[in-house]
Amino acid sequence: MILDGKSVAEKTYSEIREKIEGMVSLPSLVLLCDEPDSSNKTYMKSIVKQGEKLGINVVIENTGEDPIAQVHRMNSDPSIAGVMIMHPLKNADEKSVLAALDPSKDLEGRTVSNLGGIVNDEEFFAPPTAEAVMEMLFQYDINPKGRDVTIVGRSNTVGKPLALLLLKKGVDATVTVCHSRSRDIAEKTFNSDIVVSAVGIAKFLKREMVRPGSIVIDVGINFLDGKLVGDVDYDEVSQIAAAITPVPGGVGSVTTALLFKHYLKSLERMGRIAR
Ligand SMILES: NC(=O)c1ccc[n+]([C@@H]2O[C@H](COP(=O)([O-])OP(=O)(O)OC[C@H]3O[C@@H](n4cnc5c(N)ncnc54)[C@H](OP(=O)(O)O)[C@@H]3O)[C@@H](O)[C@H]2O)c1
Repeated sequence: MILDGKSVAEKTYSEIREKIEGMVSLPSLVLLCDEPDSSNKTYMKSIVKQGEKLGINVVIENTGEDPIAQVHRMNSDPSIAGVMIMHPLKNADEKSVLAALDPSKDLEGRTVSNLGGIVNDEEFFAPPTAEAVMEMLFQYDINPKGRDVTIVGRSNTVGKPLALLLLKKGVDATVTVCHSRSRDIAEKTFNSDIVVSAVGIAKFLKREMVRPGSIVIDVGINFLDGKLVGDVDYDEVSQIAAAITPVPGGVGSVTTALLFKHYLKSLERMGRIAR
């Protein structure tokens, strides 16, 4: 089974359209960047395009001399509902810039307050990529309860928050998180019911690393010979997996949709639309 992110995303967009229909002068969503790499450029382009479709103004802004002051201004600007600080920032201390961001405008759930909140079920925004993996499982009735899940990748935006979401009481997965220093990754992925790859290396997850009948979620965004691909050797792994997400059209589509859902949540908090 192919887990189609586009149809999952479309459902979310319909909900958003319904809520903002007829609204004029919607606040903006700002993407703050300095020297975006190719995957960031692709991501930003897709957010701008989706914003246009929804009638939401998405502004790409470059970091200036003082990005912290820039973020402070955005925090207090009522014409801005959310800010994404594009990772990685190359010319500024990203941690300090993030620390300046108001958690209620942190649509990507990257601030300490939002990330820490996941532990206590108190976050305002969880990172949308991690949420997108959960949403894919949920929409396709794949219940992680009691299942062994291996996540490859431990970033603060994907691997770590996803592990916490899967560990929540009620979700109840058993989670293994691997990274570049992990030993025997193939053995761990092979022995899992669900494998999530968030590494950033094309064809990282090969057929022999996946047990036939397991579920494979590909978070990676890579370019191979000019083509957008994930982390999974899709042609090979799709032959043995029970379910698999494609790239493009998988987790990435849902991530963008959830980002706009977070934008909507921010509008609610700002009192611009009813909850
Ligand atoms: N689909 C989406 O919506 C979406 C959203 C965000 C990111 N992405 C994509 O997802 C991928 C991961 O993103 P990220 O931001 O999490 O990247 P990241 O911050 O670079 O993290 C990559 C992770 O992979 C681990 N890793 C690297 N090489 C490895 C190896 N050979 N074996 C095992 N683990 C290895 C790293 O380990 P260490 O910690 O030890 O370095 C790190 O934990 C990228 O392709 C990115 O473009 C997709």
